[in-house]
Amino acid sequence: MKGIFVTGTDTGIGKTTVCAALLHRYRRCGALGYWKPVQTGWPEDDDTATVRALGACADAEICDEGIRLPRPLSPHLSARLHGVTIQMGDVLRPAQSASQKRAWVVEGAGGLLVPLNDEQKMSDLIAALRLPALVVARSSLGTIIHTLLTLEALRARSLPIVGVVMVGERNAENRRAIEQYGRVPVLGEMMQFSRLTTEALGAWALSELDAQNSLATWMAQEVRA
Ligand SMILES: Nc1ncnc2c1ncn2[C@@H]1O[C@H](COP(=O)(O)OP(=O)(O)O)[C@@H](O)[C@H]1O
Ligand SMILES: [Mg+2]
Repeated sequence: MKGIFVTGTDTGIGKTTVCAALLHRYRRCGALGYWKPVQTGWPEDDDTATVRALGACADAEICDEGIRLPRPLSPHLSARLHGVTIQMGDVLRPAQSASQKRAWVVEGAGGLLVPLNDEQKMSDLIAALRLPALVVARSSLGTIIHTLLTLEALRARSLPIVGVVMVGERNAENRRAIEQYGRVPVLGEMMQFSRLTTEALGAWALSELDAQNSLATWMAQEVRA
């Protein structure tokens, strides 16, 4: 599977919104798709439906398969309370049948070290998929520690990092600190929308997300032919 894996410094940090923005930004460069391998809190929480709407996605741009668990908790706990164990093989199965002609924006659940089962974490899923990671972080106070920890944990596992997207009111000092101490590019600063709509998000993505086009290698690889 080609594409990028969108992780974050926390749950509720803006991963789903950034995924939808990435669809707006990169579908003009080639065939893209969105996939949520593990969703808890389902069906009330349905990031796939959110991205379908916020990203104005066509059916072919959505892989609607994956582990779906009812309790809105960490995957390992949501699974345990549902009487099942998440098996990495089951998580990965949709990736094997997903179109190889598309680049996929894959969204994690929670943050990088959230457990999937007794042995494995979200980081093991990223490694198994062999996708580079994009980290979604908030822009406000506290983001430096959370972002640097997430970047260190990615590097400790030799997982490639494509950059950080910050969400919330612009904070130039926090951006500078993340770029300097984290040694990563900040690919965008997404403001807090007073009304988060498909149109507003699309306009922001096209004008501000990854203006350097540094994700093109991952997002438009196979599709130029
Ligand atoms: N830039 C933004 N402006 C306004 N609301 C946002 C923005 N980014 C995220 N949100 C809202 O914050 C909540 C969490 O965002 P979400 O993208 O679902 O986070 P995650 O996928 O990391 O759990 C959602 O209700 C979403 O609509
Ligand atoms: Mg989400």
